[in-house]
Amino acid sequence: MNLQGKSILVTGGAGFIGSHLVDRLIREQPARLTVVDNLWLGKLANLQDAFQAFPGLQFYQEDSASPRAMTRILKQEAVDVVFDLATIPLPASLVRPKWSARQIYDMALNICELGRKGLYETLIHCSSSEAYGSAAYTPMDEAHPLLVRTPYAAAKAAADLLVQSYQHTFGLDATIVRPFNNYGPRQNDKNYAGIIPIVIKRIREGKPPVIYGDGEQTRDYSFVKDVVDGMVRLVQNDAARGGVINIASGEEVTVNRLVRGIAAAMGYEGPIEYADERPGDVRRHLADVSRARQLIGYQPQTVLEDGLQQTVAWYLQQFAAQETS
Ligand SMILES: NC(=O)c1ccc[n+]([C@@H]2O[C@H](COP(=O)([O-])OP(=O)(O)OC[C@H]3O[C@@H](n4cnc5c(N)ncnc54)[C@H](O)[C@@H]3O)[C@@H](O)[C@H]2O)c1
Repeated sequence: MNLQGKSILVTGGAGFIGSHLVDRLIREQPARLTVVDNLWLGKLANLQDAFQAFPGLQFYQEDSASPRAMTRILKQEAVDVVFDLATIPLPASLVRPKWSARQIYDMALNICELGRKGLYETLIHCSSSEAYGSAAYTPMDEAHPLLVRTPYAAAKAAADLLVQSYQHTFGLDATIVRPFNNYGPRQNDKNYAGIIPIVIKRIREGKPPVIYGDGEQTRDYSFVKDVVDGMVRLVQNDAARGGVINIASGEEVTVNRLVRGIAAAMGYEGPIEYADERPGDVRRHLADVSRARQLIGYQPQTVLEDGLQQTVAWYLQQFAAQETS
């Protein structure tokens, strides 16, 4: 599918991955580009570059689970393709499980229903490696069972199954991309933040970074720009349509190595503290990216150390700017 000249809508487009996806989509020269985000965690500042590069960008501060709002927007923007990225992050599901799971499920269900009603043509739904749970085997291919461990993971898996059910029952043209851990600029550093912004913030404030558990748990980290590039190229490849596709680096990194990498990028040589393991934390994650490689020659461009340097530089600049404003 050629995205040039299409009307594209991104849910969660003011968030971390969504805003990078919007930047990347602009290069495809869509006729229209629309973001729906209720700004629960996302920020308009994340779209600053996009507004400059694509002045016609339409932003709606709306709930993507609302049938009424989404029907109006999809009609108004005559949307062809929906990238569905809106989510409630994993840490929120540990403190507000019922609400988080409902939100994630309701957003996906609404997008599926509107697709069934013909309000857009093609859905790219964003899943998560968390849907696999901890590795039963490695590397984890798309056939890995969904051994979920948190309410977030359960809701993400349920959302994927909903999308698949609408594909099979109603012929919805949908593809599920399943990224593993992402990092890079614009990841939320406040409520429910992930480990990378938290560690950068603590080191900057002169506090030791804290690792939950022994730090030997592993993740498969990708620089966010590599992931959104993969997403866009997958959509353009008709052979990818209709499937579930992992997007990851295919490299297993311990949390200890990750935190040491951030410390090195910041010139921090102080202690690292350890605290109790976080409930539901997966032990191992390592993706099998053969499918993405076979379909689009997917090959991440950014090695972890370089990506961490860029990420640290971006956060330090942000924190400094916040202090002077
Ligand atoms: N960050 C990662 O490492 C990672 C890894 C794998 C998969 N994913 C998936 O990628 C997608 C994007 O994640 P992210 O890390 O950018 O998260 P994020 O929290 O930065 O962005 C999600 C956005 O959704 C918005 N949102 C929440 N509820 C909404 C609602 N009801 N209506 C409209 N917008 C709403 C938030 O305001 C936020 O801007 C999600 O589907 C997530 O599950 C993320």
